[in-house]
Amino acid sequence: MKRGVTIIGSGSATSPQVLGNNNLSKIVETSDDWITSRTGIKKRHLADTQSLSDLASEAAQKAIVDAGLTPDDIDLIILATSTPDDLFGSASKVQHQIGATKAVAFDLTAACSGFVFALVTASQFLRNGVYQNIVVIGADCLSRWVDWSDRTTCVLFGDGAGAVVCQSNQEKDNLLGFQMHSNGELNNCLNLAYQGESKNLGTDKQIIQGGFGFISMNGREVYRFAVSKVPEVIEKALYKAYLSTEDVDWLILHQANQRILDAVANRLKISKDKVISNLSEYGNTSAASIPLALDEAVKKGKIKAGDTIVTSGFGAGLTWGAAIFKWGN
Ligand code: UT7
Repeated sequence: MKRGVTIIGSGSATSPQVLGNNNLSKIVETSDDWITSRTGIKKRHLADTQSLSDLASEAAQKAIVDAGLTPDDIDLIILATSTPDDLFGSASKVQHQIGATKAVAFDLTAACSGFVFALVTASQFLRNGVYQNIVVIGADCLSRWVDWSDRTTCVLFGDGAGAVVCQSNQEKDNLLGFQMHSNGELNNCLNLAYQGESKNLGTDKQIIQGGFGFISMNGREVYRFAVSKVPEVIEKALYKAYLSTEDVDWLILHQANQRILDAVANRLKISKDKVISNLSEYGNTSAASIPLALDEAVKKGKIKAGDTIVTSGFGAGLTWGAAIFKWGN
């Protein structure tokens, strides 16, 4: 029997340690004026004592409570992150930390599109009835991988986590439509690349060993890509959902740049008061940005049960996608 998906709870977590633009201008040659006018960002929260798993676990725990469930009810945890504590994945650590002993857990990497891709992945397990309750987490600590001497990137990013609980439902399907894309040809526009060096094993065999470098981004290229592809992917997802932009109650885009949020809303003719924006407080938190903004808007009472929400993630890969859903049960 075909089942549907409902999204029934949310939670989020950030570090209390905040770095404002004025303090940032003591680290690199920049100014509050430049950062605010070019991006809309005023501050960012940077993890100091918390690990990625800690932030993800806190967000997941809150989402489970918000959904009226207990960790025992959770069948699957999908952790969308590009900055795990462990290259083998951090989802199992989260599963242990929140005490979801029955849940299987895995990481999913799709950079700033990670949350949307994970939500769509989760919905497949719910629609086919394999699992009943899934926690989808978007979490990133990009402060670990930013070159703090590079003003073109270090002003943009912050750390955080957001989570939702999705449930299988026999009567309705609140995931109304989605669309996802990748274009690896543009991979070099935004990277956090492995930078190994050739090492001789003392025989005639060579291997590559090393670590990862810093985030590198062609900002102008990624900006151009975002303002052209995001409206397009949203329109395709709306079409699949038999909806038009007039049916949209809230637009929650990946929080990369206020100018991108404004340009996309303009292109889609969605009024500014329907655009959820919290990047002045958090900056770009990659996979966390959509669920973090969603959770804040729900907790503030802006988003209500039954509201139609358009989300769109975009970034490294390059990847981009949109998911449209009704909030709540
Ligand atoms: O999360 C993944 C998705 N990421 C994105 O969507 C990011 C997309 N890109 C952007 O949001 C924007 O391109 C940026 C915010 C990254 C940059 O804004 P921009 O308006 O495209 O600036 P720009 O790169 O064209 O640089 C303009 C000027 C340059 O100086 P010159 O060459 O004109 O003399 C930069 O060197 O601004 C300079 N600049 C800065 N000045 C002060 C670059 N960064 C800074 C800075 N402070 N932090």
